[in-house]
Amino acid sequence: MLNDRSSTLSLLETRRSAKPRELVGPGPTPREVERMLTIAMRIPDHGKLHPWRFVTVAEDQRDALAALLHQALAEESPEASEAHHRKEDEFAHYAGQLVVLVSAPVEDHKIPVWEQQLSSGAAGMNLLMAAHALGYVAGWVTGWRAYSERVRSAFCRPGERIAGFIFIGHPARELEDRPRPGLAEVWKEWSPPGA
Ligand SMILES: Cc1cc2nc3c(=O)[nH]c(=O)nc-3n(C[C@H](O)[C@H](O)[C@H](O)COP(=O)(O)O)c2cc1C
Repeated sequence: MLNDRSSTLSLLETRRSAKPRELVGPGPTPREVERMLTIAMRIPDHGKLHPWRFVTVAEDQRDALAALLHQALAEESPEASEAHHRKEDEFAHYAGQLVVLVSAPVEDHKIPVWEQQLSSGAAGMNLLMAAHALGYVAGWVTGWRAYSERVRSAFCRPGERIAGFIFIGHPARELEDRPRPGLAEVWKEWSPPGA
């Protein structure tokens, strides 16, 4: 069973994302969103810099998001097909709550930007966990939009970047697991070089 919420450990052991395009509503209530974001903030953060932010996109702003994506796509890929533009429209209107995770590192700080970016990843992961713990399913995607300057500047201040678009809703169909690496592939006992 995936996303088994019967215990903390079972949820950790079975958590599974959904593809955002396969989510259906309803999304979380405003109180639940607040709770999820509060949990998302409770993560390792070297230097207490909170080098991440969350930007939520309300239902009544989805048309504006679609307009932004069309504009960005037209500027960056003038040859983009109608089908591609349709895809962007669909993306902007995926069901559920959209949270844009922004990596907001403090430059020229003794804490390296790399560590601050890792903290953003932790915030995204905790947001997923919080959503799943509350009975929702989330999906974290990036794609060209996360790297578009036009889109970036609509969500981020200078020096910040989009770490992900996280959609939170319910799966339209039963989730299937995906292949995972075997533990032996990613785990070894350390020995000193040359030993
Ligand atoms: C930073 C980041 C960006 C991602 N972008 C995409 C994406 O654009 N498209 C996609 O299909 N999956 C993307 N993924 C992977 C999915 O979010 C998801 O983790 C994956 O489908 C595995 O599902 P799981 O969370 O159940 O392990 C991204 C993951 C991360 C961490």
